[in-house]
Amino acid sequence: MESPSRRLHILSGYPDFSDLPWETPLAEWQAKGVPIQDMPRGLSRHPVLFIKLEAATYAIKEYSPQHAAQEHEALLAMHTRRLPVVQPVGYVQARSAASALITRYLHNSLPYRTLLMSNRLASYSQHLLDAIAALLVQLHLAGVYWGDCSLSNTLFRRDAGKLTAYLVDAETSEAHAGPLPPTLRHHDLEIMEANIDAEISDLISHHKLMPGIPHEAGAYIRIKYQRLWEEITRDVVIKPGENYLIQEQIRALNALGFAVNEVKLVDSGGGNQLRFHIHVSARNFHRNLLQRLTGLEAEEMQAQKMINEISELKATLSQERSQDVPLEEVARHWYEHIYSPTVEQMQPHLAPPADLAEIYCQILENKWYLSEKSRCDVGHHTATLDFIANHLQDA
Ligand SMILES: Nc1ncnc2c1ncn2[C@@H]1O[C@H](COP(=O)(O)OP(=O)(O)OP(=O)(O)O)[C@@H](O)[C@H]1O
Ligand SMILES: [Mg+2]
Repeated sequence: MESPSRRLHILSGYPDFSDLPWETPLAEWQAKGVPIQDMPRGLSRHPVLFIKLEAATYAIKEYSPQHAAQEHEALLAMHTRRLPVVQPVGYVQARSAASALITRYLHNSLPYRTLLMSNRLASYSQHLLDAIAALLVQLHLAGVYWGDCSLSNTLFRRDAGKLTAYLVDAETSEAHAGPLPPTLRHHDLEIMEANIDAEISDLISHHKLMPGIPHEAGAYIRIKYQRLWEEITRDVVIKPGENYLIQEQIRALNALGFAVNEVKLVDSGGGNQLRFHIHVSARNFHRNLLQRLTGLEAEEMQAQKMINEISELKATLSQERSQDVPLEEVARHWYEHIYSPTVEQMQPHLAPPADLAEIYCQILENKWYLSEKSRCDVGHHTATLDFIANHLQDA
């Protein structure tokens, strides 16, 4: 039975978490027999532990009263808008001196220390800073001030040979209407630079920094951020008859993964020039399309690779049938005859929870490489056999 001092607020669709020993500090849960999962994690001031309940893994973070409710609220607002943040599940007013936040464990995610200290992951480490820049741009476009961007407050997921960054710690975040004003963006970047430079110095002093990571990592992220921000927010100025330039900019934004919300005429600027502003939403253009067409969940760059494959297949099928085959039908064909058989061929060789979307993209990469070498399309089956024989240990 729930004790009077304990209040659980759990979103619908999750276990009720009421059997856990909330009266006891997290540090003592193991001794109480709670099955704690050992997962890779970043540095943190607060106690954080991972537990498995009804086949899913959750992260529980303990802090002083009220904070859990606030952080839950902030994460929920961002998650509902499909921003890359950990998924909130609920919060608990556990004891008079403590509250706890419950989030869904972000599967197949890696903290930066694992990425920067494992030779096996060396090729990914160079993308880590770019991923943080892209995450900050997305948050700022959506009006979110983070207030504590750091390597430890970010998790990384592999994304078609690169990385996508997720916000894991929203304790200091604030939501504003519309894109974040320049002063707050500037402030957020200052905090990011100070935090990340301190974390990188710490790794250097312990001789743990992988080669290839710039020592001025904060400044590097700021430059990447500014370039991306300008690319995404710049207005399109056109003369009569140049409407195609708007289409071009929309395509360029889509290629970066941003879906367009609306195109607005901002001012005529006098003369015969027109100025358009293109509003974008989160970086989910191909993710949303892939999900709508096939039901598959993937990261943005993984989804882009799969959508490219579906588009190529559309051309081939349309030519074979001498008629235009609708994208929905092509996607079903791809899922049934290409994606599923490839995944089924791989599955016995993978330990759960395998990152299937990433492995599928690696097989596509291998198929491309083998086909280039033998100057003919080797097909998915051969590329998968070769992948199992030669590359599985790196997957
Ligand atoms: N949902 C989650 N999925 C995977 N890992 C998680 C999750 N929540 C927390 N973690 C891990 O726990 C670590 C600590 O979490 P968090 O940054 O929220 O704690 P903190 O004590 O508030 O940190 P800080 O010291 O910055 O205040 C993270 O770096 C991450 O590795
Ligand atoms: Mg933190």
